[in-house]
Amino acid sequence: MAVESYHCSICGRRVKLQTRSDMPVLDPNTGFGICKSCIKNIYHFIEDEETHKARNSKKSFNYLLGDLLAKNKPHVIKEYLDEFIIMQERAKKILSVAAYNHYKRMKYDLDNRGGDDEIDKSNVIILGPTGCGKTAMLSHLSKLLDIPFAVTDASSLTEAGFVGADVEVAVRNLYYAAGRDIEKTEHGIIYLDEFDKIARKSGENNSITADPGHEGVQQGLLKMLEGSVVEFTERGQRKHPEAPTIKVDTKNILFIVGGAFVGIEKIVDKRLKKDDTPIGFGSEIPSKEDTDAKFNELIHQVRPEDLMKYGIIPEIIGRLPVICTLETLDEDALLRILTEPKNAPVKQYEKLLSMDNVKLEFEEAALRQVAKMAIERKTGARSLKGIIEDVMLDVMFDIPKTNEPRRVVITEACIKGDEQPQIFPLDEVNLSKESA
Ligand SMILES: Nc1ncnc2c1ncn2[C@@H]1O[C@H](COP(=O)(O)OP(=O)(O)OP(=O)(O)O)[C@@H](O)[C@H]1O
Ligand SMILES: [Mg+2]
Repeated sequence: MAVESYHCSICGRRVKLQTRSDMPVLDPNTGFGICKSCIKNIYHFIEDEETHKARNSKKSFNYLLGDLLAKNKPHVIKEYLDEFIIMQERAKKILSVAAYNHYKRMKYDLDNRGGDDEIDKSNVIILGPTGCGKTAMLSHLSKLLDIPFAVTDASSLTEAGFVGADVEVAVRNLYYAAGRDIEKTEHGIIYLDEFDKIARKSGENNSITADPGHEGVQQGLLKMLEGSVVEFTERGQRKHPEAPTIKVDTKNILFIVGGAFVGIEKIVDKRLKKDDTPIGFGSEIPSKEDTDAKFNELIHQVRPEDLMKYGIIPEIIGRLPVICTLETLDEDALLRILTEPKNAPVKQYEKLLSMDNVKLEFEEAALRQVAKMAIERKTGARSLKGIIEDVMLDVMFDIPKTNEPRRVVITEACIKGDEQPQIFPLDEVNLSKESA
């Protein structure tokens, strides 16, 4: 029997009717029919529309917020940060509370829409020495929170008219992090990293030189912090009068800004001395511990007027009510950073080598030596990984040559560069340890 065939009334394709499901919709009298693949397309189209609608509906956003509030209490957020960040207890607390309060404000705002009482937001400024965990903390926080979160490097921003990115870029980054959903963008968190780099050059900490629009950048950011409608074009589109723009109100966006603010402790010290309340670190040549202790003591006393002296305009400081300071990491802290966090460098190298059937062992003295060298480099925890990487290079090159089970022992001498890491068959004792 000849196989009947019909044309799909949507796509026009000719379909041979071998089974009924080849043309699920068919009226043989009129010849009207819809083929299987068109039906699938229609189904997916409707499904996409529905989920998109559900995602965007205010009701579901509010519902989601209730859920988020219940899930992300401050102590839960801090516990999560504890898995990755060593020390900096106060900073972790401040950020946990800031994130939780941000959810609460949003919920209050949605529940009382139209009402004129609002809870003010509390933007945060984070200060602390280089490599002490500012950026790391914020990037872990962003992974946990189910709200859009975008990091923008403030040092890349320039005043409109200068070559570089306008301040609007910070909001545009958030818009993309929010999956281009404007309502979500308007409730997100923006982290402005390297915020100290836009300090006015004529601030006390800097010599008076030409200022390539840093004050202009601050003025631009101020508008965003105060809450204004920011307009920008989609990525890759040049700004010209006809380009369609996206408008985002920044009123409810939480801003967290952070930077090392190198030298701010001197400004605090000067102020305190003027106030006649010197801190008792009297020795002539202060030891490293004394310097660190003094730094930590001073940094925790940063006040708005010190930031002003540093070169941040008062209006911005007024919009950053929460000052969060991080302390210098000492040798013990660095030692813990090497091994304790979920993503600790030692754990990462162990995992890497285990994939080549190799058990990696660091001697305690070796790890301490890594921490010591990192302290000498004065870049906080940042150099830890690099120091180990240098030592591991040759081993990581040689190991994959065979697949036998082996173990590698890293000794203090390896870290100092006095000997190469040794590779042993798995069951052999560590000879260098034996002979020591
Ligand atoms: N307290 C800490 N606990 C765990 N890891 C840390 C800590 N501080 C720093 N690190 C590690 O060191 C690296 C550098 O830290 P981070 O980028 O956060 O420095 P930063 O404070 O932002 O410095 P900068 O002011 O120079 O930007 C991170 O990758 C992180 O893994
Ligand atoms: Mg940083």
